[in-house]
Amino acid sequence: MPSATSGQVVCVTGAGGYIASWIVKLLLERGYTVRGTVRNPDDAKNNHLRELEGAKERLTLCKADLLDYESLREAINGCDGVFHTASPVTDDPEQMVEPAVIGTRNVINAAAEAKVRRVVFTSSIGAVYMDPNRDPEKVVDESCWSDLDFCKNTKNWYCYGKTVAEQEAVKEAELKGVDLVVINPVLVLGPLLQPTVNASVLHILKYLTGSAKTYANSIQAYVHVKDVALAHILLYETPSASGRYLCAESVLHRGDVVEILAKFFPEYPIPMKCSDEIRPRAKPYKFSNQKLKDLGLEFTSVKQTLYETVKSLQEKGHLPLPVTAESDEAIKIQS
Ligand SMILES: NC(=O)c1ccc[n+]([C@@H]2O[C@H](COP(=O)([O-])OP(=O)(O)OC[C@H]3O[C@@H](n4cnc5c(N)ncnc54)[C@H](OP(=O)(O)O)[C@@H]3O)[C@@H](O)[C@H]2O)c1
Repeated sequence: MPSATSGQVVCVTGAGGYIASWIVKLLLERGYTVRGTVRNPDDAKNNHLRELEGAKERLTLCKADLLDYESLREAINGCDGVFHTASPVTDDPEQMVEPAVIGTRNVINAAAEAKVRRVVFTSSIGAVYMDPNRDPEKVVDESCWSDLDFCKNTKNWYCYGKTVAEQEAVKEAELKGVDLVVINPVLVLGPLLQPTVNASVLHILKYLTGSAKTYANSIQAYVHVKDVALAHILLYETPSASGRYLCAESVLHRGDVVEILAKFFPEYPIPMKCSDEIRPRAKPYKFSNQKLKDLGLEFTSVKQTLYETVKSLQEKGHLPLPVTAESDEAIKIQS
């Protein structure tokens, strides 16, 4: 596909992951040549990348670990841009904080050495909204930062690690003269390209398998994985893009989520009871996704996102297809 991007070489770290796989797919579709870093190129869990359209001609998988500077330097050397998406996704402090922070510093330094045009860094809402002192009426936007002491005291090591990693990215990029743009997605859902179930999709799977008997009295913001990937590319391709970009479509109470799921998929044992019948129902916070909308991003509705997530879980064999009266009949006729 000839386009202005043909001939541009970009690196995507952690290419086999949920979001990164979508970034690689869309980059290939737009004509980019992609170097994807993975920790083990021979692991079958990365095979889906080789099957993407354009992968045979324009995708190379490079073995790299975030804690191994040389491996990153080799992957990034000769690239025009970097999408730094790899990160541990865990609440274990040892596995989370150091690899996220040192890995980010390593990527920025390798990008500086390679004199890339821009680094797009995948941060998180976790670096934005964990602040107990924020006025509940305040619109959550790019000016908000999570409170590190609060993250520490509540043992929210994922949010702590992402916040410190983003701060490190900003500091190191400034020091080394790297053009850095940051994206802060909320909880990401939508079709999986990779064969395994990642943490954010697990959030929905538990409501369909019968493992969650109740839902929590809490709220969560959601966004479609394809929109997140496209936003990364828009931020790379728009010269005027700068700073942080909150990537969110809507905020729902868990009660709304199970209601939508139950309407689309009544055959699954979706919990309809809240675990907390005492406190008032948690209220969604207000947020702004205007910065990304101004770049032309159109967000997929959360209903569509939830529907596509469940369909994908079924197609990938992570969720048994429900036995309906019709399929029961079909089984009887065949036997
Ligand atoms: N999914 C969400 O809801 C969400 C929301 C906001 C932000 N994010 C951010 O988006 C990024 C991708 O998340 P995801 O949901 O796509 O998670 P994922 O599927 O678990 O992908 C994470 C990737 O990071 C790689 N990685 C972890 N530690 C590494 C290390 N030490 N060296 C090299 N690679 C390493 C993993 O590689 P292996 O396959 O080798 O383990 C994997 O490819 C992360 O930065 C995450 O914080 C995610």
